[in-house]
Amino acid sequence: MRSLNKIRIVIADDIEETRSLLKQVLTLDHEHFEIVGEAGDGQEVIKLCGKLKPDIILMDINMPILNGLEATEQISSMYPMTDVIIMSVQSDAEYLKTAMSAGAKGYILKPINHEEVTDLIQKTFDRNKDIRKLKVNVEKKETKLVSLYSFKGGVGKSVIALNLSVILANKLNKKVLLVDLDLHFGDISLLTNKHMEKTILDFVDDAVDDYENMKGYLHNYCTNLDILFAPLSPEGAEYISKDVIKKIFEMASEQYDYIIVDTGVNFEEHTLFTLDHSDLIFFVSSMEMTSIKNSKLGLGVMKSLNYDDEKVKVIINLGNEKFGVSKKDIEKVFEQPAYAYLLEEIKPIRMSVNRGHALALDHKGKSTKFYKNLLKIAKEL
Ligand SMILES: Nc1ncnc2c1ncn2[C@@H]1O[C@H](COP(=O)(O)OP(=O)(O)OP(=O)(O)O)[C@@H](O)[C@H]1O
Ligand SMILES: [Mg+2]
Repeated sequence: MRSLNKIRIVIADDIEETRSLLKQVLTLDHEHFEIVGEAGDGQEVIKLCGKLKPDIILMDINMPILNGLEATEQISSMYPMTDVIIMSVQSDAEYLKTAMSAGAKGYILKPINHEEVTDLIQKTFDRNKDIRKLKVNVEKKETKLVSLYSFKGGVGKSVIALNLSVILANKLNKKVLLVDLDLHFGDISLLTNKHMEKTILDFVDDAVDDYENMKGYLHNYCTNLDILFAPLSPEGAEYISKDVIKKIFEMASEQYDYIIVDTGVNFEEHTLFTLDHSDLIFFVSSMEMTSIKNSKLGLGVMKSLNYDDEKVKVIINLGNEKFGVSKKDIEKVFEQPAYAYLLEEIKPIRMSVNRGHALALDHKGKSTKFYKNLLKIAKEL
């Protein structure tokens, strides 16, 4: 669920000025680097590492409480996903050897040269990319963040988000958190007939700051599926900042196999943040011209955000070729085949919406093509 493109960095140096200079330099290249934390001593950096799991730590040697070499030794054994680059004023080979035997993956001399440091970070990261991937497979499975997004309302994002979550949880035995981030007009509480539950707004009011406490704000809808509901009225949205969303993802990460997010049709900061950090975006369109036109524009925006093709997958919902638009027409307009088609099945879906009961939990619902196709999507996740 981490940023797929950016290298996440922690800077550890006891001199504030050095940290802020490095920060300035690396922020110039904000498309590639993200400074996720700073520490002033060795103990602090170990703590931060456990919390933030950065890709790279830029580590000074002479720091109070615990020096950089000792911190490196602990980090390389405790957090093998993080690579340490030592920053030092010492250029002799002995120093370099000591740093490397403590587990450092790179060494750079102070004063730090801009090009040298960015180059070294990138190279260190690239060199260990494959090893990191292997480690992920051996270690804990990372939480996958999947968003449902569209450029036109009413195309079925919420119905898909809920039923996909139920299928993953109930049928495929995955641990799932469904987050309703349509902050103005969230519908998941309606679709599940739960209006009395706590919402993301209560979560913010009570300044929750760890997963154990967060659980009190989640509704357990069925086996393996927790839901965080959107505010019950539109005014609530203004209290939910991007930082709140970040905190939720951080707290929930590693607790779930999947976080499924139902987004609103907007470009607000929290939506863009979610899309940026998603592993996968299901971009939903219907087969109606107004939706197709907006979706074409939307897919252009996804490209301009530099999301790669693998990250954005088109789902055509309300599929019905009887009304003048065929699958082929859509492929032509989007210049790519859709990842999946979900048929228009008015009766079972409208019944489940009106009853506030997920179709995927219902015996009859499971015989619909809508369910079968969603199951196929869920299995491929
Ligand atoms: N495959 C389908 N077949 C028939 N009806 C459907 C299908 N998918 C969704 N619907 C209907 O479309 C309506 C809109 O769906 P939903 O609320 O999930 O869309 P949305 O994209 O989340 O809308 P909003 O932009 O308002 O959040 C639902 O009430 C449901 O009845
Ligand atoms: Mg919706």
